Amino acid sequence: MVNEEWAPPGIDTTKPSVARVYDFMVGGKDNYAIDRMVAQRALEIIPDAQEAGRACRAFLRRAVRYLAADVGIRQFLDLGSGLPTDTNVHQVAQTVHPGARVVYVDNDPMVLVHGRALLASNDTTAVIEADIREPRQILDHEVVRDQLDFTRPIGLLMLSILHHLHDDEDPGAIAATLRDALPSGSYLAIIHFWDPADEQPEIAAKVVEAERVFNETLGTGRWRRRAEIQAYFGDFELVEPGLVPLAEWRPDAEEKAEQTDSYYTMIGGVARKP
Ligand SMILES: C[S@@+](CC[C@H](N)C(=O)[O-])C[C@H]1O[C@@H](n2cnc3c(N)ncnc32)[C@H](O)[C@@H]1O
Repeated sequence: MVNEEWAPPGIDTTKPSVARVYDFMVGGKDNYAIDRMVAQRALEIIPDAQEAGRACRAFLRRAVRYLAADVGIRQFLDLGSGLPTDTNVHQVAQTVHPGARVVYVDNDPMVLVHGRALLASNDTTAVIEADIREPRQILDHEVVRDQLDFTRPIGLLMLSILHHLHDDEDPGAIAATLRDALPSGSYLAIIHFWDPADEQPEIAAKVVEAERVFNETLGTGRWRRRAEIQAYFGDFELVEPGLVPLAEWRPDAEEKAEQTDSYYTMIGGVARKP
């Protein structure tokens, strides 16, 4: 297929990327025909999947605002940060604490190209290219060590990234390494693809199909059960209302989400390190 869309040097537009498919789902413009084809296949199974994308970004904004404003967190490590979009972590955090520090981490080179352009003017925010499957490299990275003070509470964000790890890549061990590096009083926020087989069996059939399509096209995508997802928090204590469909996590007063199919395909929570 001839691809006539412009791409930055080094970006392969013949293969779909998680970051770009997600960008399409949340209404962004940094995606290519191949990404939109993958998104289209997902939409055939879960027609309101773009609603799930919007719910993810809304959860991110509420969770970061909660951490910055209610808890007083002033430094964030955002793993699998994705392409910059309308409201990013540093914008939410710095509305509360103008000097809040944020390190964005992603393994997609396109995120680096766009992230650096967005963040060039902000010296308390950085973006690095690294892979969550090598958590020690992230923790020891000089930019991470430079920007973040590991003696003070940190907000660790793993929003829609752990479900892009296969079971044999041991996401549980990766999450544990990252949790262990944080000081007491730190917080972990997770969004994860959810297989609601125990609670919504009719939706579970769709997520099995979505998982098949994601793996055929993107090579990743695991919809896990609640207990598996909860285990990624280890001994951290979930704050109210716990691990819930995204729209139920501390919704703003004016937010009213319809309980359509995508409502039950992702859950999220925030927990504190004792
Ligand atoms: C679905 S997007 C989520 C973006 C953002 N966290 C959000 O919730 O809006 C997942 C991001 O994780 C990144 N990612 C996937 N696997 C990764 C890995 N092994 N290491 C680092 N980043 C990864 C992708 O490139 C993509 O940008």
